Amino acid sequence: KKMSNLQVSWACPSNIALVKYWGKRPQQLPMNPSLSFSLKKSQTRTSVQLLPISQPRLTFLFEGEPSPFAARIEKYLDTLSIEIPWINDYSFRIESENTFPHSAGIASSASAFGALALCLAELDQRLTGAEKEPEQFIQTASRLARLGSGSASRSVYPGFAWWGKSAALRGSTDCYALPVSTNIHDCYFRLCDAVLLVDSAKKKVSSSSGHELMNNHPFRDARIQQANNNIESLLRVMQTDDRLRFLEIVESEALSLHALMMSSTPSFVLLKPESLHIIEKIRSFREETGLPVGFTIDAGPNIHLLYWDEHRNAVHTFIQNKLLTFLEDGKWLDDRIGMGPVKV
Ligand code: PMV
Repeated sequence: KKMSNLQVSWACPSNIALVKYWGKRPQQLPMNPSLSFSLKKSQTRTSVQLLPISQPRLTFLFEGEPSPFAARIEKYLDTLSIEIPWINDYSFRIESENTFPHSAGIASSASAFGALALCLAELDQRLTGAEKEPEQFIQTASRLARLGSGSASRSVYPGFAWWGKSAALRGSTDCYALPVSTNIHDCYFRLCDAVLLVDSAKKKVSSSSGHELMNNHPFRDARIQQANNNIESLLRVMQTDDRLRFLEIVESEALSLHALMMSSTPSFVLLKPESLHIIEKIRSFREETGLPVGFTIDAGPNIHLLYWDEHRNAVHTFIQNKLLTFLEDGKWLDDRIGMGPVKV
């Protein structure tokens, strides 16, 4: 029977990768395993309403306005309809908003496809009557999210998540992400992420063309090896309170990502002079104070300053006094590890 007007809503956080996903195979399968944690404040809220098929195929509103992202969502729905036949029986009204500023330098495709996939997974359950265990439900959502944006597969979990087959991870798969819950020292659940906005301009290289650069990359095999080794080392380090070693691996991952982009054909330098100044300041602050502060970076110029909750005051003073001058309009986002998506 038809269920037009059925509506579901989810809020899903963005995530920040510690071991980076860079390079993919067909079907949005990763070239290497990755590991991330979900953020708390940076979320997308999405509601999906089913409409009779007589309505236009897709009405998509982002923060109340029509958005060019609609084309990508329509393509995504077409892709999914191959395995979820009811998608072709309805039209869709999708409304979405972010809880973080537009140009904050946060990857919004992870939270956006995370929230949308959770809505579609729930609708699938309601329409097919095939109730799933919570664990299966979230794996389905992760797999659907992956088909929208690879990194989105990791956004449907609280805390730490990994995605991609790796010898270090029993039961790991390329098809969906899984939570990393056991054997992580408590201290890592107090991680904070100050997103330092260096430049909010649109990315010079889209992530899909970025992934493509890995296909014929001279360092491809070494990169796959490196990511596997880093996941293994990081998981071992995270069993203990060894924050400096943790940050050492995380920084190496971030700089490796940029080194790969600089050494690909065509080549991209996405870091700005300000990004490099900030990296130097963070490293000398760590040396001078002994505090565990470090950074990670995605495929752009903005720096994610990683630190621990108990050092919040010292780190915020450091940002105010030493880093503000390098930031676009002095802007940064005060985020931290979060508890994953919620049904709203
Ligand atoms: O999910 P995509 O295709 O936008 O790729 C994201 C890639 C990085 O953000 C650079 C790394 C990662 O693992 O999130």
